[in-house]
Amino acid sequence: DGPATVKELSSKFGREVSEIIKKLMVLGVMAGINQEVDIETASILGSEFGITVEELPPAEDPTEIPEIEDSPESLLPRPPVVTIMGHVDHGKTSLLDAIRQTNVTAQEAGGITQHIGAYQVNYQGKKVVFLDTPGHEAFTAMRARGAQVTDVAILVVAADDGVMPQTIEAINHAKAAKVPIIVAVNKIDRPEANPDRVTQQLTEHGLVPEQWGGDTIVVPVSAHTKAGISELLEMILLVSEVQDLKANPNRLAYGTIIEAQLDKGRGPVASVLVQKGTLHIGDTIIAGTAFGKVRAMVNERGEKLKKAPPSTPVEVLGLSDVPQAGDILVAVDESTARAVAEKRFAKKRTDEMNQVQKVSLDDLFSQI
Ligand code: GTP
Ligand code: MG
Repeated sequence: DGPATVKELSSKFGREVSEIIKKLMVLGVMAGINQEVDIETASILGSEFGITVEELPPAEDPTEIPEIEDSPESLLPRPPVVTIMGHVDHGKTSLLDAIRQTNVTAQEAGGITQHIGAYQVNYQGKKVVFLDTPGHEAFTAMRARGAQVTDVAILVVAADDGVMPQTIEAINHAKAAKVPIIVAVNKIDRPEANPDRVTQQLTEHGLVPEQWGGDTIVVPVSAHTKAGISELLEMILLVSEVQDLKANPNRLAYGTIIEAQLDKGRGPVASVLVQKGTLHIGDTIIAGTAFGKVRAMVNERGEKLKKAPPSTPVEVLGLSDVPQAGDILVAVDESTARAVAEKRFAKKRTDEMNQVQKVSLDDLFSQI
């Protein structure tokens, strides 16, 4: 399995180390006893001795929970998940507020708005989930940890400021994640607004607007006057309909931690976006090195939920520990949860200890 050292090959082949090294030399490889030999070289070497070398499949990682395969018939339509990205102060939060106010306040009467980092709005009878991770740091962190949560990215560009460094970063992140981008040119109410200049700049970064013969949807908006907000929502629905987003609601839940913290009274509190399956009260869950049973679930309007189907953001209580943003949360049977969480914890400890050892060795060398 993996590359083997000359010493290991010698014992596997039942030949002297010197013999192995000589053969390698003939093959043009100068190797010492502890040198690793790749699989190609090892198989050529093996054939010299009349031995077939086979690569073993990688060992199963006990800290990973195997993914459930969903059959195509099990998949049902699910709401899109949208992330708002863009440069500092270009109006991401204001735009989110405008979207919420125009579409959720009516249903929200009496409810206390919770900050759970994600929320669902209802537009023309269709649900859309917005990730309130303004600034793309959270998005980057999640992507770096392999979590793919976004179906559509809204790129907010202030019409009075234009494309800025973080705008370009956001474009690159969305492209790397292969997420379609809808541009919202914000602050068009401002006297200094110059939407044409923004369009020109976007073109320079590979986003050619439809009006200019490209395929990027650009919507001029104002979070202040609410101009263009309905058009933006319509475009989001249009783009996500094309994607034909589906998930199987009838299986154990799979989701991503959006954010998490330790609450004095309630213990670890995690905002979770359920992506597949349905999360129920009482389910045994594992996220990173944390595990537990779902004690309570609350949505962003402060309402208690008994179950959370795909594309539902919920605040989950009942975990043993605070997971990290981007951790995958899965519902499993209880013994699996405990065993996997323990193995993950042990691995984290060894990783940390290796880190410490590495640092001290490096320190030592730097002092010599
Ligand atoms: P960060 O989270 O700090 O990156 O900023 P943001 O992108 O969330 O911007 P935010 O919504 O906080 O808005 C920044 C400033 O721009 C605030 O003073 C807003 O009032 C203002 N602003 C946002 N949208 C508009 C708009 O449509 N028109 C005008 N005139 N001002 C706006
Ligand atoms: Mg903000």
